[in-house]
Amino acid sequence: MPRVQPVYRCQSCGSQAHQFFGRCPSCGAWNTLLEELPTARSLTPQRGQPSSTPQRSRPMAAVEPMDEVRISTGSSELDRVLGGGLVRGSLVLVGGDPGIGKSTLLLQTAHHMAQRARVLYVSAEESAQQVRLRWSRLRGCRPQTRDHDSTSAMGLNLQAETDLHLVLQELESLAPDVAVIDSIQALHNPDLSSAAGSVAQVRECAAALRQRAKIMDIAILLVGHVTKEGMLAGPKTLEHLVDAVLSFEGDRFASHRLLRSLKNRFGATFELGVFEMGDRGLTEVTNPSQLFLSQGEPTSGTAAIVACEGTRPLVVELQALVSPSSYASPRRSATGIANNRLHQILAVLEKQLGLPLSRFDCYLAVAGGLEVTEPAADVGVAVAVVASYRDLLISPGTLCIGELGLGGQLRPVARMEQRLQEGQRLGFHRALVPTGSEITPPATMTVIAAGTIRQALVAALQNDPAGTDKDTPHQA
Ligand code: TYD
Ligand code: MG
Repeated sequence: MPRVQPVYRCQSCGSQAHQFFGRCPSCGAWNTLLEELPTARSLTPQRGQPSSTPQRSRPMAAVEPMDEVRISTGSSELDRVLGGGLVRGSLVLVGGDPGIGKSTLLLQTAHHMAQRARVLYVSAEESAQQVRLRWSRLRGCRPQTRDHDSTSAMGLNLQAETDLHLVLQELESLAPDVAVIDSIQALHNPDLSSAAGSVAQVRECAAALRQRAKIMDIAILLVGHVTKEGMLAGPKTLEHLVDAVLSFEGDRFASHRLLRSLKNRFGATFELGVFEMGDRGLTEVTNPSQLFLSQGEPTSGTAAIVACEGTRPLVVELQALVSPSSYASPRRSATGIANNRLHQILAVLEKQLGLPLSRFDCYLAVAGGLEVTEPAADVGVAVAVVASYRDLLISPGTLCIGELGLGGQLRPVARMEQRLQEGQRLGFHRALVPTGSEITPPATMTVIAAGTIRQALVAALQNDPAGTDKDTPHQA
């Protein structure tokens, strides 16, 4: 096939050049030229895409609806994150740090889907033998005999290839229902001179696969690597190109892994799935709240909150440690909660309750390595900090839910009933909520409404937080 002469397009002004320049000859911007192929994009209308032929407007009800056929992935956690299964003809990007378990997740998923559908697994990073070895180690994937056609995964085909054209050819001839590309950064289009993994390559390969996915109605799962800065490698356009972006995260030292949807055209975003990595692959964790609660004796400075991840409420334990500082400026460190949020809550406690926290180091951690971004955790953080400062235990079985205003007032948060139900399911019988929360509490739960942080602390610690000795630390 003759090589196509690529062009270079400036991402700033859109002008084209036939050779690469570090600086755009047209607008003068630096490092904005990107290689691309001049081939006219196919004008075949793509499923789910605006048509390329001019269209008049129509009444909304007259537009033919798209039938959203979903394929179950065989994992209820993955199905939940996808919004109820994989939609045919959609392109899903699964990103994550190297070694977090993306290939394991997708190989397991490919195997399970192959029981009911035809699946192509393209390995662009590992050899066929390596993938075969992993496959035979995974739970539920072990073949019965060495005879290849007697394996349980009748519909699972493997292609170890990095050339985009050969992968597209294989998609054409096999016509699978689902394809997994591991990874998009390792695939390359030989018509472009830039190296595999470069912005131009990633974009071109993803665009070609997307076109094929839409035309042939194949659901394609792309593996994407995350850069050191935590961004999905490749251009931002990759995120616009796909229908869903899932992020696979986890603490390398812990066995559980979190799968989160950052974008989903077919379901809710920020939906969370929880898995556990074992020696035979990933297993689903259907009761994740248990994972984020410690089972031992309660200690001072520990508070339970309910964080909502997507539509899923999770009971999570927060731990605070407040100790006298030996530094001129005290140390503040938060794991799983933004440092700024901790600073703000400490400032509110100092101002509203007169606690001399600026003389104390303060550490905060969310158990289980979960990232909590919701303001609903504020009250829990404040209670944990004061409990540690005064060396008090929070009344057992108490949940702390609410946002903390700068004036020390508590603000209601969304999904309160779901949060309380999840707490009740796990044996919590008391909940501290902001005044004004409109709820019908579960029958076995006592709900205490507090309007200010002081009232919340009195209820949670059964003690006046400021105390009579408000300038004297508890141990001093
Ligand atoms: P992998 O799926 O190769 O990660 P990625 O594709 O995201 O780079 O997972 C690699 C890690 O997972 C590796 O450190 C070993 C571990 N692992 C297990 O603990 N158990 C298993 O059954 C498998 C297959 C991998
Ligand atoms: Mg991998």
